[in-house]
Amino acid sequence: MKKSLAFLLPTLILAGCSVDNAGSQSSADKTGAPEKGNVLVAYFSVTNNTEKLALYAQEHLQSDIFEIVPEVEYTSADIDYNSDCRANSEQNDDKARPAIKNTISDISQYDTIVLGYPIWWGQAPKILYTFVESYDFSNKTIVPFCTSGSSPIGTSATNLAKSAPKANWLEGKRFAAGTSKEEIGKWLDTCFMEKKDMKLLIDEKELEVAWEENASSKAIKDLCPLSIEMHRYGGFEQVGSIGRSITSNDKNMTTSPGDIVLYSSNQIVIFYGSNTWEYTKLGHIDLSDNELNALLNKESVSLIIK
Ligand SMILES: Cc1cc2nc3c(=O)[nH]c(=O)nc-3n(C[C@H](O)[C@H](O)[C@H](O)COP(=O)(O)O)c2cc1C
Repeated sequence: MKKSLAFLLPTLILAGCSVDNAGSQSSADKTGAPEKGNVLVAYFSVTNNTEKLALYAQEHLQSDIFEIVPEVEYTSADIDYNSDCRANSEQNDDKARPAIKNTISDISQYDTIVLGYPIWWGQAPKILYTFVESYDFSNKTIVPFCTSGSSPIGTSATNLAKSAPKANWLEGKRFAAGTSKEEIGKWLDTCFMEKKDMKLLIDEKELEVAWEENASSKAIKDLCPLSIEMHRYGGFEQVGSIGRSITSNDKNMTTSPGDIVLYSSNQIVIFYGSNTWEYTKLGHIDLSDNELNALLNKESVSLIIK
């Protein structure tokens, strides 16, 4: 098996073929997406591809970060996978558990661990097994991600999960080395998309909303129940006054159909078209453009948030 992989791997990497990112594991429960709580980004990286993305994740989540540092660092000869290198022999040895030099001082302070690693022969490096077997992950959520030349996340995270069965493992995702900060941020947002118990009805029709996790959406929640008469404006939106100002963090953005935003700190705008302006995003209604048009492209609508 090692031989055939050794043959395949350079071909895959050189061809740069883009295997779909989606992990195939099923342990995730997207509908029960967790509250992220206090997050730690932990990662292992030898050639810094994973490290770069871990730093993006840390920045996006404003979290702590922990690098898994091997007691014996990997030299380039150690990861020369076309030879009989250290990495290869560890990956071929079920019992290999390379020692880790550093420890997380107080794991109990974290609710979620975003865990990054490179793919080595289709799996997580054995040092990741050392890591997950070193702590008690009861009541914690682990969100795995990996980088690779081209291989998908495959069974790498589900196999790792067997070594820390007390954790709630979310579906992992594979990223290419050059993945942007924005893409990492988007992925993390979907992992932690909170299903807030805040209902939104337009003309008495209840709609599925992905609420943003920010101070403004929380302020809206505090004002519930809210009943707002909205009016069509500009041929692309419905707008209505909240009746008071709430906290905002406006950014220049180009909205998409379905976006719900706060405008001027005191008005809610729901788009069936698009506009570029300074807004604070509150959430998004997941309907098609046609459905949004049918719902919102009229003189006025009634909005209830409760
Ligand atoms: C020992 C070894 C095995 C690897 N096996 C695979 C593989 O099976 N599939 C793949 O697409 N890339 C494989 N790679 C490439 C790495 O997954 C990829 O370069 C990764 O981004 C490295 O992450 P890092 O820079 O954080 O160490 C392998 C690399 C090494 C060193």
